[in-house]
Amino acid sequence: MLKDDFKNLFQQVKADISANMSKEDWLALEKKYLGRRGELNKLMDSLKSVALEEKKELGKLANSVKDELDDFFKKQKGILGTNEENKFVDLTLPGTKSEIGYLHPITQIQDELIEIFIGMGFIVEDGPELESEYYNFDALNIPKHHPARDMQDTFFTTEGNILRTHTSPVQVRAMEKYGAPLRCIAPGKVFRNEATDASHDHTFYQLEGLMIDKNISITNLIAVMKELLQGIFKREVTVRLRPGFFPFVEPGFELDIKCLICGGSGCSVCKHSGWLELLPCGLVHPHVLRAGGLDPALWSGFAFGLGLTRLVMMRYGIEDIRLLSSNDLRFLKQF
Ligand code: FA5
Repeated sequence: MLKDDFKNLFQQVKADISANMSKEDWLALEKKYLGRRGELNKLMDSLKSVALEEKKELGKLANSVKDELDDFFKKQKGILGTNEENKFVDLTLPGTKSEIGYLHPITQIQDELIEIFIGMGFIVEDGPELESEYYNFDALNIPKHHPARDMQDTFFTTEGNILRTHTSPVQVRAMEKYGAPLRCIAPGKVFRNEATDASHDHTFYQLEGLMIDKNISITNLIAVMKELLQGIFKREVTVRLRPGFFPFVEPGFELDIKCLICGGSGCSVCKHSGWLELLPCGLVHPHVLRAGGLDPALWSGFAFGLGLTRLVMMRYGIEDIRLLSSNDLRFLKQF
């Protein structure tokens, strides 16, 4: 009877098992019963000639026998696999060392800066890289057709948005979100449609800083800048402050550091001037406070936009900014 044939199939398998079977023997046995032309399929073929009612019952039985056999062979192969592998493991051999990744030097310095600023009570804020013209320009006191828009060559998208040219749009976004008082930093990627050279890339990192409170003055700004530079360079750095124009600050400054690549004697990174523009800053313009929903009669603040990629160059003496985005492991593994 077909029913008994199905029921006895597992017994037959067991009867075929002998001592010391190799992996190949097990595979052959599996093929004999579960292969395309194996015993199970032969029985399945005979089901075709059986009456419908009986076919349903036998079909169920056939499936459970198949599951049982599948399970059995899977287990056997598992046990064999482990045993065979163990035979060849030489525990005295040195293991294979797996490669571990490195944090990019920009990420490393960014993390250090975040720690320094958190220590001074700042929060870390994020902003979109695909930005609207409003936040990138208008809200920062740079209306349409204002010549200051040309200061930063811009990538436009076909939908009328832009790739942010600086991290300053986060200033207004943060004011809108948190109000005042406020201390926040916003590190991130920015984009400029400009030709590259040893100190200019089209994609680079900045770290924006914003502090809003009552009676904030240049003294607060200088104190925070000093803390930042000492924390990052851990050595004496010569700085100079000169007037700088940015429509979103008044007054505005450029904080330059003496080039750490050439020590001030002139090289391609500092364009032979001995100084490197690193930290533009100033007191937040009243128009920007208003755009952020704050009353300039009550609140004042300072802001800065640190060139993070340039800072990394100075810290490690990297002579060409483009190396940092080259993804060359020979370069990156040094950090
Ligand atoms: C700005 O982007 C202003 N948003 C900074 C600011 C913020 C001023 C808050 C006042 C208050 P600037 O275009 O100068 O400013 O860029 C800031 C810094 O980014 C520069 O000092 C420089 O270190 C870096 N930087 C500018 N262009 C490039 C470039 N193409 N490649 C690498 N770093 C650059």
